[in-house]
Amino acid sequence: MRLLLHQLAQNGQKIGFVPTMGALHEGHLSLIASAKKECDFVVTSIFVNPTQFNEQSDLDKYPRTLENDIQLLAQAGNDLLYTPTVEDIYPDDFDHGKVYQFNGIDNLLEGAFRPGHFNGVAMVVHRLLDIVQPDAIFMGQKDFQQVAIIRQLIKTENLSTRLVMCPIIRSSEGLALSSRNARLSPEWKKKALVLSQSLHFAKAAIQSKQSIKEIEAEAIKRIKNQGLKPEYFSIINGLTLQDATRKSGFLVAVTAAWAGDVRLIDNMILRDKSDSYAK
Ligand code: PAJ
Repeated sequence: MRLLLHQLAQNGQKIGFVPTMGALHEGHLSLIASAKKECDFVVTSIFVNPTQFNEQSDLDKYPRTLENDIQLLAQAGNDLLYTPTVEDIYPDDFDHGKVYQFNGIDNLLEGAFRPGHFNGVAMVVHRLLDIVQPDAIFMGQKDFQQVAIIRQLIKTENLSTRLVMCPIIRSSEGLALSSRNARLSPEWKKKALVLSQSLHFAKAAIQSKQSIKEIEAEAIKRIKNQGLKPEYFSIINGLTLQDATRKSGFLVAVTAAWAGDVRLIDNMILRDKSDSYAK
């Protein structure tokens, strides 16, 4: 694979890369479509990365649907699928002790509830970028903090790959697509709609007189009313990921909640980057 990709690069072909953990859905396929638009050759990886899971049981329960994934990738016009083994990614001499520096953005939000998670994500994406050497990597806004982490990784490790963030793909009712949704019962799937609804509420409320704290409290209340257990609902500065103190600049609402035994995350840009530059 390295030889093939090297030859393509030598011939001036632009290589786009979409890292995934499989159980592919329209969200993943949208990344491949974006990569196809911007690049000549698209590589997708499927690797359920053990170093980013906090619980062994979550790793064991992670859906694995390789045969179906292969069909979806062929239909989407993906050029090359890379399915490494754990030994390929983490050979015996691999340095598992590497601690990445993220200026604190790894300890907030998802990082606060999943210690070490982003170090594991950075470790695997760093390794995959080293193997694939793509011109651009395509990642979903669905995992907004993950995109911020990889932006920081590319910066601190001086990597030459361009990062492209692609919009969240949702079901027609508004649920952000996720491989974990397969574990939701029809009842929980319906109740989980409150997540995107509360994000829409925040987007509208940010224009009102309500304070940021009031909006966050109201959103938490709405999520609890549906029987979900929220871990956080925060309105943050989209660049620093710190809690927003003013209703200006690049604002993103981010949330995580348990729907039964399934942990879901979602987010919405409330106020665009371009707005903040304009004002
Ligand atoms: P995974 O959860 O499989 O997601 C792979 C990519 O698909 C991520 O960039 C994610 O943000 C994107 N994605 C997931 N759901 C989406 C949706 N509804 N709309 C748009 N994009 C969506 O994220 C990971 O895997 C891993 O952490 C990985 C980066 C592969 C490292 O192991």
